[in-house]
Amino acid sequence: MLIDSWGRQITYLRISVTDRCNLRCVYCMPPEGIQLRPHDEILRFEEIAEVVRAAAENGVREVRLTGGEPLARPNLPALVGMLSVIPGIEDISLTTNALLLERHAAALAEAGLKRVNISLDTLQPERFARITRGGSFEQAWRGILAAERAGLAPLKINAVAMRGVNDDEFLDLARLAVEHPWQVRFIEIMPVKNEAAWGEGFPNSFDAFIPINEVKARLAGLNLEPLNDKSGSGPAREYRIPGGPGRVGFISPVSEHFCGECNRLRLTADGSLRPCLLSDLEIPLREALRRGEPVLPYLQQAVGLKPQQHELVLNHRPVTRCMIQIGG
Ligand code: 5AD
Ligand code: SF4
Repeated sequence: MLIDSWGRQITYLRISVTDRCNLRCVYCMPPEGIQLRPHDEILRFEEIAEVVRAAAENGVREVRLTGGEPLARPNLPALVGMLSVIPGIEDISLTTNALLLERHAAALAEAGLKRVNISLDTLQPERFARITRGGSFEQAWRGILAAERAGLAPLKINAVAMRGVNDDEFLDLARLAVEHPWQVRFIEIMPVKNEAAWGEGFPNSFDAFIPINEVKARLAGLNLEPLNDKSGSGPAREYRIPGGPGRVGFISPVSEHFCGECNRLRLTADGSLRPCLLSDLEIPLREALRRGEPVLPYLQQAVGLKPQQHELVLNHRPVTRCMIQIGG
């Protein structure tokens, strides 16, 4: 089993499968884009599967595929198929912007994908285009409906809470959980190398930050009722809305961090293990994999280096990668 220095067992691996994306969300990457890794520095599917096999042999049960945009990687259902047959892996999920889901949802479900988290910060098409620097809301919405049709449930919607950007829509977003059996989650902005100006008409990331308590207060009219049974092993605090089939969740990495319950490790698209989202510490694994070395010692090293809590509490921010290069 993989147990860190603070007694936490690692059961969940987040795998970034690409540093590319078909959108450019303001909080995720700078307007000019990022330096993309060359293809030969990106892990191949077989290499990813090898890491997952080693992780699964040592207690990892859940895998989440992230990006960039994971569906920007060709043939993703093939990877899902490879991972879903690994003994011990019980749950495979995907975090996506949904644009390509209309095309791929059925194949993903068939390959063994269980569920999706969809990033959606607004229900207003024009605003969606501005936040994502060019994306089509209608295309994302069609993708969401395709995921639902394919049975990828429970479907979760992630909305980053941003003052002066989408804070007039929190009620509308939460009401999706009245109309649909979806979980709508509000997420605090994380200061991951995104301090640069977001662009014309946007606040900077510090002015845009809204603590989760304020988001909750704005939803007071919905009479949210706290739930104790969580729908996953993630950090969201969940609520139901009386009269609705869905849930509302809150993720507060900054104002009330949940590091004490951390169960995860991350693998970057270029093959490094990242012990903590909010710490720049990384263990390069790709070259060792390619030399045929066993993976377990690297997993153990990464788990051993997990900090007790993230570095924001020390007023230190991660600066080596943008969110698009980590995968959230
Ligand atoms: N702060 C909070 N959430 C972010 N995401 C991307 N960048 C940030 C940030 N700076 C979210 C996306 C997506 C998930 C992978 O992470 O909206 O839902
Ligand atoms: Fe792409 Fe998701 Fe980042 Fe937006 S948040 S740029 S969709 S990876």
